[in-house]
Amino acid sequence: MKTTGGSEDEKRRAGERAAELVADGTVVGLGTGSTTAHAIRALGERVGDGLDIRGIATSYQSADLAREVGVPLTTLDDAAPDLAIDGADRVAGFDLIKGGGAAHAREKLVASAADRFVVVVDPSKECDSLDGSVPVEVLPSARTPVSRTIEALGGDPTLRAAERKDGPVVTDNGNLVLDCGFDRIEEPGGLADELSGVPGIVEHGLFVGLADAVIVGTEAGVEKRERSR
Ligand code: 5RP
Repeated sequence: MKTTGGSEDEKRRAGERAAELVADGTVVGLGTGSTTAHAIRALGERVGDGLDIRGIATSYQSADLAREVGVPLTTLDDAAPDLAIDGADRVAGFDLIKGGGAAHAREKLVASAADRFVVVVDPSKECDSLDGSVPVEVLPSARTPVSRTIEALGGDPTLRAAERKDGPVVTDNGNLVLDCGFDRIEEPGGLADELSGVPGIVEHGLFVGLADAVIVGTEAGVEKRERSR
């Protein structure tokens, strides 16, 4: 369910700027996806130059890349992230839809645990109000009752199909993903609360009230928005 439309240069600029925010001696949450991958590679270069950090991965993808580029890893059992960096599929102000890579459960966990959460995107992710599909990770045994509940909430759930595997996507946590179409999400916070209360939903991709800053990589450079709390 990717909505990627930006250029690699735009993503790289956003990721690299976020990597500059990581201070020596800190713990950084490593999001998932092609934009965050640029931040992880830039962090690997800084570690090569002597930066002392530890990363907390949000997926097999980010863990493997961190190991490849030399970013030491730790876990939420042993450390709390000072800063988390992650991409998004849709951004309206500081509200996000995430989960295009089906990693949103661990991504939300790490972003919530961090002192500061910085989002890195290209301009194609920006919108006036959240719309489109909300990824919902569900326990395998819950997909049918959860689908009915989501329909009752006005959504249109579709089981995410795997590519290069027959059948559904199975997440890093062993669950399934329902991509839930909603016409226009007028109140993201209200829908997020409703989805969070449905038994069988492990996590949904609405990230409301979590982001502290959004860095948009553009053809000309970067634009950074800071949230005032
Ligand atoms: C993974 C995510 C990603 O952060 C999101 O899909 C953006 O990815 P990309 O930077 O490749 O466009 O939420 O679950």
